[in-house]
Amino acid sequence: MSQAADRYQRLSSTPPGRFLVGRLGLPESTPLRRYEPGQPLLDGPALLGGAPGARLSPVVDRILKSANADARHDAGDGESTERWAAVVFDASGITTSEDLSALHDFLSPTIRRIGASGRLVVFGTPPEQASDRRHAVAQRALEGFVRSAAKELRHGATGQLVYVAPGAEDHLDSTLRFLLSSRSAYVSGQVVRIGAGESPAPADWDRPQAGRVAAVTGASRGIGAAIATVLARDGAHVVCIDVPAQGEDLAGVANAIGGSTLSLDITTAEAPAALAAYLQERHGTVEVVVHNAGITRDKTLARMPRELWDAVLDVNLSAQERLNDALLMGDLVGAGARIVAVSSIGGIAGNRGQTNYGASKAGVIGVVDALAPELAQRGATINAVAPGFIETQMTAAMPLVVREGGRRMNSLAQGGLPVDVAETIAWLGSPASGGVNGNVVRVCGQSLIGA
Ligand SMILES: NC(=O)c1ccc[n+]([C@@H]2O[C@H](COP(=O)([O-])OP(=O)(O)OC[C@H]3O[C@@H](n4cnc5c(N)ncnc54)[C@H](O)[C@@H]3O)[C@@H](O)[C@H]2O)c1
Repeated sequence: MSQAADRYQRLSSTPPGRFLVGRLGLPESTPLRRYEPGQPLLDGPALLGGAPGARLSPVVDRILKSANADARHDAGDGESTERWAAVVFDASGITTSEDLSALHDFLSPTIRRIGASGRLVVFGTPPEQASDRRHAVAQRALEGFVRSAAKELRHGATGQLVYVAPGAEDHLDSTLRFLLSSRSAYVSGQVVRIGAGESPAPADWDRPQAGRVAAVTGASRGIGAAIATVLARDGAHVVCIDVPAQGEDLAGVANAIGGSTLSLDITTAEAPAALAAYLQERHGTVEVVVHNAGITRDKTLARMPRELWDAVLDVNLSAQERLNDALLMGDLVGAGARIVAVSSIGGIAGNRGQTNYGASKAGVIGVVDALAPELAQRGATINAVAPGFIETQMTAAMPLVVREGGRRMNSLAQGGLPVDVAETIAWLGSPASGGVNGNVVRVCGQSLIGA
């Protein structure tokens, strides 16, 4: 299903609108294909290719076969106009910069045939784990290639680079499925790293969270409500957490998804112990923790009162750290557990008037960096998503010009939806994503800001 077209998309799909968009050089914006349960992984054939030494091609073949995808190794003759739903190129074996020409030779004739909401996925070897200096350089070059190629894709297609560590070949199922599927509609130009980590395949890829308990903060509305809904759709029992004042909305979300509610201001001194006790008593464990609650209190630094600084840092960062400490100390986060935090592009690129918010959201990335090794030892993971412009009450309240600017300044020339952030979190929260640890994945349609 495609999202309901926004006003600009409706206008630019009429003949005079198309003419104006072309003449004025305005961004092209196509409604994106989005996920519905039961939807096939791809809505057309996939073309697979690789440079000599490609070590991931057999795994990619296997994954596509198990998903019943129509995978081909031959692009057909140059006359064919058939569109590819996905093009996957394994560049892991490229060991010199001269051999990067394999990317050109394979993708130059095929990139135009990637269809609407199509996918380009390039695999590589993490440069830090390359066999020698030249190999590391060639692999590092993939990043610039993929980010640029993603900007040349049209009609809602996306492009990503996946670095797979040697020995982690069997841990990429959940990531490849996510990136190829319409669940990753608003993720583009990203670099994901996969290492070795227990990644058991779920019995049913449509319900990977079956039997698992998830806790989501800020779940009463916006992105948090979407996260709770998607995790429940994927089979989880979701504990929906929000401030007492949001009780009615929170109950509405929890009732709709068969979850439970916990009214809790996460900044209070009692909150960490209260959350740990709640989870311990009701469930004995928690498999997915999503730190989504967040606030903005914007003012330039010179005009910012200390209260606004404190409020934002406390909700967005310090409270999250305290909750993590309590859950880790209480041994509630065990093997197979996933912590996912919501950062922001503001924490990567910085935003005028948001020194407090930028610090808090960069700090969230710091939490991921600091905890990833400890969680790996427990057989668990921690990752962050960094949303760009997402259509929520928060962004609807922006002045028109700022809002239109934010919405269009990305490769997909549109805002994302809360469900796009939620789907990305669901992938990182999957039991099959044990190889994905310490990543920050932007959900921003490849925003031009902070790229
Ligand atoms: N909307 C965007 O474009 C965007 C972009 C980047 C990042 N984000 C981040 O995504 C997250 C969700 O954003 P949203 O747009 O859905 O915002 P929102 O304001 O609609 O929802 C945030 C929720 O967090 C809850 N919350 C606030 N303080 C809390 C506390 N002390 N204890 C418990 N719950 C608390 C609120 O009651 C609310 O339900 C935030 O962390 C935000 O910073 C949003």
